[in-house]
Amino acid sequence: MFISLPHTSVELKYNGGMHIQNNVSLKDFSTMRLGGLAHALTTVTNVDELREAVAWADEQKLPILVLGGGSNVIFSDGYAGLVIVNAIPGFEVLGETTVRIGAGENWDNAVKHAVDLGLHGIEYLSAIPGTAGATPVQNVGAYGAQISDVFKELQAFDLQTHQLVTLTKTDCGFTYRHSIFKSPKNRRYIITSITLELNKKSPTPPFYASLQRYLDEHNITNYTPQAIRDAVVAIRAIKLPDPSKIANTGSFFKNPIVPAKHAAELLAKHPTMPHWDAPDNCKKLAAGWLIEQAGLKSYHAHGMATYEHHALVLVNESAKNYADLAAFRQEITDTVHKRFGVTLEQEPELL
Ligand code: EPU
Repeated sequence: MFISLPHTSVELKYNGGMHIQNNVSLKDFSTMRLGGLAHALTTVTNVDELREAVAWADEQKLPILVLGGGSNVIFSDGYAGLVIVNAIPGFEVLGETTVRIGAGENWDNAVKHAVDLGLHGIEYLSAIPGTAGATPVQNVGAYGAQISDVFKELQAFDLQTHQLVTLTKTDCGFTYRHSIFKSPKNRRYIITSITLELNKKSPTPPFYASLQRYLDEHNITNYTPQAIRDAVVAIRAIKLPDPSKIANTGSFFKNPIVPAKHAAELLAKHPTMPHWDAPDNCKKLAAGWLIEQAGLKSYHAHGMATYEHHALVLVNESAKNYADLAAFRQEITDTVHKRFGVTLEQEPELL
């Protein structure tokens, strides 16, 4: 049975029949709260509505942009086409441990629902803002887990053939914070649902350092999906700003991956620098650490700031437009590059 979870992330303003709005401020559809006007915007709650919206855009010869919760996009301007807000709901248990989640479903509601069912695999990804359909796009990850670890397949509407297609994990080309959907040529696919292969095992250590620290400090030794979810929710509430209260898009930069030789040179000067192994004789560094060490934690300029509890999160305090954000981003990337010779790359998609 396909059920709809109680709260979708996207407010469902229109039901039954397509409703197109013109000149809509994209500010209200991005958690960074910046953006110009969309020429046209509609919300879809099922595949038929999606088809209808696509047909309308084709007829008007307008390009299409699909949004979920807007928590991983930065608008450089407005959009001279049709914005489709994907609010397709649903949570279906297929067999014992396979779940299919509607792309427009609020991601954290889906995680909660899976944990309530005693399923293990996505509890580490609790409290991440946005929709389920957005999780494969940047291969969402946190606390040592990423969506690709439990990903089976997804269903998508193919804008080239106008058919629903199934794409497997291999088709999606997942790497760290990346998938085929991040490249503009793959805007061809509109994700309608994702299917995850969870299991009934207990989460087992070793856990991600900050998670283990929290569990130890709270004497938690019974590692259930619920206990891990509770811990992750608590850690994130301390470190990361709630986008419904403070405008932000989570981690603003990817953790940079550098050749092992470069990491070794930096480690010689900074022995406590966090680092992890990465493929191809490389190391992944912590962008938040680099920004903090460059003296830019809780740094305020151009109406923007680095968050006081986590330097990797950029918050919009009073920025008026994308130019403010771009100027702030430039100061940070320049300073980090000068100090460590490391180039930071933006994580949220720039549209
Ligand atoms: N650190 C600092 N100063 C800071 C921030 C971090 O020194 O201001 C240090 C921490 O002490 C730690 C290291 O940097 O030693 C890594 O920090 P953290 O554990 O907070 O994780 P992260 O690498 O900064 C990544 C994800 C987060 C995810 C966390 C937890 C990326 C780009 N970000 O951040 O994802 O929640 O791990 O697993 O990979 C997001 O994508 O929006 C997001 C929040």
